[in-house]
Amino acid sequence: MIAATTVLELRGVEKRYPRKGGDVLACSGIDLAVAENEFVSLIGPSGCGKSTVLSLVAGLLAPTSGSVLLDGKPIDGPGPDRGVVFQQYALLPWMTVRENLAFAVESVRGKSGLAANASDVDGVLDLVHLTAAAARYPRELSGGMKQRVGLARALLVRPRVLLLDEPFGALDALTRAYLQNEMLDLWEHRPTTALMITHDIEEALLLSDRVAMMTRGPGGTIARVIDVPFARPRHRDAVMADPRFARLAAESLEHLTRELDLARSA
Ligand SMILES: Nc1ncnc2c1ncn2[C@@H]1O[C@H](COP(=O)(O)OP(=O)(O)OP(=O)(O)O)[C@@H](O)[C@H]1O
Ligand SMILES: [Mg+2]
Repeated sequence: MIAATTVLELRGVEKRYPRKGGDVLACSGIDLAVAENEFVSLIGPSGCGKSTVLSLVAGLLAPTSGSVLLDGKPIDGPGPDRGVVFQQYALLPWMTVRENLAFAVESVRGKSGLAANASDVDGVLDLVHLTAAAARYPRELSGGMKQRVGLARALLVRPRVLLLDEPFGALDALTRAYLQNEMLDLWEHRPTTALMITHDIEEALLLSDRVAMMTRGPGGTIARVIDVPFARPRHRDAVMADPRFARLAAESLEHLTRELDLARSA
């Protein structure tokens, strides 16, 4: 068997936010390697440091100690090799869907890249089923549509790693389930290395190849990593009906509630 290529690696990562009266320890001892086209979810109690880990990988923050490597090289700032999808949509309200996407290409590749990549915009609009909404403004879109624009924008530059911070967190349950299905479908067409933060255990099990569970803060670390056994292509109904799904969901929930109980009694 050929060993999978490691795309993203965190080694002994710690992040402290400096603050008067004492630093805030946001995460510590984070060790994680994500292989090419692997989808890893990070789950853990609120405040344990998940968004901090994502910001370190995005290059928006630098670790206090340890290293964050992309293809073996230390990350030293944001770059087009990482596409980020935020919980809130962060679309430019005065631009249409198509203009928002074109602007994203322009800002990472420079103006010259724009014309050559008009077909990329069409391709990605098709991928997230938004072709018919290309000329609409963000205010004319539903929450689910806006989040699909966010996903399209992140995919557009064909990032080496896709970073998702609670991408469906702001959506109602039905839209959320719909987008999860679309995401599974998308992965069949375009597998991408991904690191996703979620609070939703079932979402993590449905979408990921591995789920990394963090301990409570301050200074959360990865306590346990679950290998998700469901073969791809995946379909929601088949995954949900698999007895291993219920077992893994119960185990994960037990871990998370234990962490919350510990936090409460601390
Ligand atoms: N810019 C900052 N300055 C100081 N402290 C911060 C900053 N950002 C986050 N923190 C603190 O670091 C810790 C980890 O925060 P982080 O946002 O990474 O948690 P999280 O796991 O993403 O939480 P949630 O699930 O609520 O989004 C928290 O104690 C938080 O208060
Ligand atoms: Mg967060």
